[in-house]
Amino acid sequence: MCGIVGYIGSRPVLPVLLDGLARLEYRGYDSAGIAFILRGQIRICKKKGRLAQLEQALAAADLAGEPIRVGIGHTRWATHGAPSDENSHPHLSANGRIAVVHNGIIENYIDLKRYLCAQGCCFHSETDTEVVAHLVDLHYERDCPGDLMAAVCLTLAELEGSYALGVLCADQPDRFIAARKDSPLVIGLGEDGHFIASDIPALLGQTRRVLIMEDREVAVIERQRVQLFDALGRPVCREPLQVQWDSTAAEKGGYKHFMMKEIFEEPRAVRDTLTRHIRRGALDLPAIGWPRPVRQVCIVACGTAYHAGMVAKIVIEQLCRVPVVVDIASEFRYRDPILDDETMVIIISQSGETLDTLAAMREARSRGGHILAVVNVVGSSIAREAAAVLFTAAGPEIAVASTKAYSTQLAALYLLAFSLAQRLNRMTAAEVGEKIDALLAVPAMIDSVLASQAEIQRFAAAHFNAHSIFFMGRGLDYALAMEASLKLKEISYIHSEAYAGGELKHGTIALIEPGTLVICPLTQPALLDKMISNIREVKARGALILGILTPSCRKAADVCDAVFMLPDVPPLLAPLVAVTPTQLFAYYMSLNKGLDVDKPRNLAKSVTVE
Ligand code: F6R
Repeated sequence: MCGIVGYIGSRPVLPVLLDGLARLEYRGYDSAGIAFILRGQIRICKKKGRLAQLEQALAAADLAGEPIRVGIGHTRWATHGAPSDENSHPHLSANGRIAVVHNGIIENYIDLKRYLCAQGCCFHSETDTEVVAHLVDLHYERDCPGDLMAAVCLTLAELEGSYALGVLCADQPDRFIAARKDSPLVIGLGEDGHFIASDIPALLGQTRRVLIMEDREVAVIERQRVQLFDALGRPVCREPLQVQWDSTAAEKGGYKHFMMKEIFEEPRAVRDTLTRHIRRGALDLPAIGWPRPVRQVCIVACGTAYHAGMVAKIVIEQLCRVPVVVDIASEFRYRDPILDDETMVIIISQSGETLDTLAAMREARSRGGHILAVVNVVGSSIAREAAAVLFTAAGPEIAVASTKAYSTQLAALYLLAFSLAQRLNRMTAAEVGEKIDALLAVPAMIDSVLASQAEIQRFAAAHFNAHSIFFMGRGLDYALAMEASLKLKEISYIHSEAYAGGELKHGTIALIEPGTLVICPLTQPALLDKMISNIREVKARGALILGILTPSCRKAADVCDAVFMLPDVPPLLAPLVAVTPTQLFAYYMSLNKGLDVDKPRNLAKSVTVE
């Protein structure tokens, strides 16, 4: 999704902005631009395509040595209007006095545009954002000359939808304005100036002291000070957050791609997530606020996080005997869900900023549900609004395709399931202790999978020309198959579907042809005979089978054409270990096809629009 940066201070502004934009690249974008003030005028440079195009255009403008002390920048992920130079941000008011960068969607922009056209404004782009530049300028001229902050506030009162905004005014080279509603924005406090950015990793090259802006807050950013105001214009005093991640955590560290680095971080990330919540062999979770009684659990998330929820459903139902519903956030929020104050709602999100997930959480809260969020990013919107939070310790996840975040979500969800089982007297403290011991053995098992990555690499080299690949499993293996298939699709662009073993023959088996690759996680001995029958059904139609097996499912090797052997992980915990070879497979398929592994087409890391 779009990314915003801004800086005012004594350092050369353009390199600071470009460094911030480069750190935001992982969010996904199709154009980039910056605006800055030079000798009392706003100058803009914006280009469709990669940041390199913008850098070339800036180099051609020969600005080195110019006294530029303030600027804002943007990476755009197109929503309103195709990717083009014109639609790129920043957008200017007609007289060139106001420049705006925006993340989010202005839902009433058509009405506002009509009004502004009637006032004589000409539009140069198809974006919703351009109305903001014209409106700020109109108010600045007509209602509050000389008061940029007031002009921005009058504008905000007219906007419907979501926004994170950076606003620059040619008349006011000593400040710029930042504002947010339902789109993330953070302020970085530096020694020699101050910054804004869409997320914390974008600031890590500059500072680790961060102020997280709350919804409807507005900030005036100056070189020597930052003033924060609430929706009613009252000053807000907030302690800055000292970010623990260091900047190297958001760098590739010798790996060719962030995705590979992040897969190799899984053992560490899972271990950290577990040890953060385990003390002396027993659970040590933050206060969760379980309802009494727990009538149902409702899990809400999107994408990979939703797939982690699918695993959690099976685990919680098995251990706790409480019904669990798993919902896609964008469906949940509009389907009039049934919940009450005996419902525990578990919200799962790596970024903590996914708009649908955030909105679903608010919807669940308004219906009386008890909210617990499993989140990776400290200070994110979901983390701040949830009644209770279980943090994962993945560290910054930069590759668009989520890997270590999924593993750590699973780790946290297992701990939650054990905690609820103990609370409901379904497990004794001693039984929980045994399960914890088994969980603590998982990171070493992931390490041993990583040590065998060459097997996966060879397999991918033999199959990267496939045009359709199926994943098939039962129970937890089905939940895992869903995630494996998503990973493959998103970075290799190969069509893929995941099916429950028993379901293929109800229609989809028609797609199996001689040579079609079907990948089967086989980690559930209780379901193995059924899966072997399902494998025989597709083999009879010519499918090639790759089995990802635990030793207790070894007998399925006879029906597989190729086998990847997992360590001896207990069936209940198998997704935590079995996911890694599927991620490696997706990675190598993408690499073999020569694709942009970390920044797949059309995708954004943090999905902050509906
Ligand atoms: C896929 C992926 C997405 C995210 C989804 C939710 O690899 O990363 O499917 O899982 O957009 O994002 P979060 O977890 O940030 O809410």
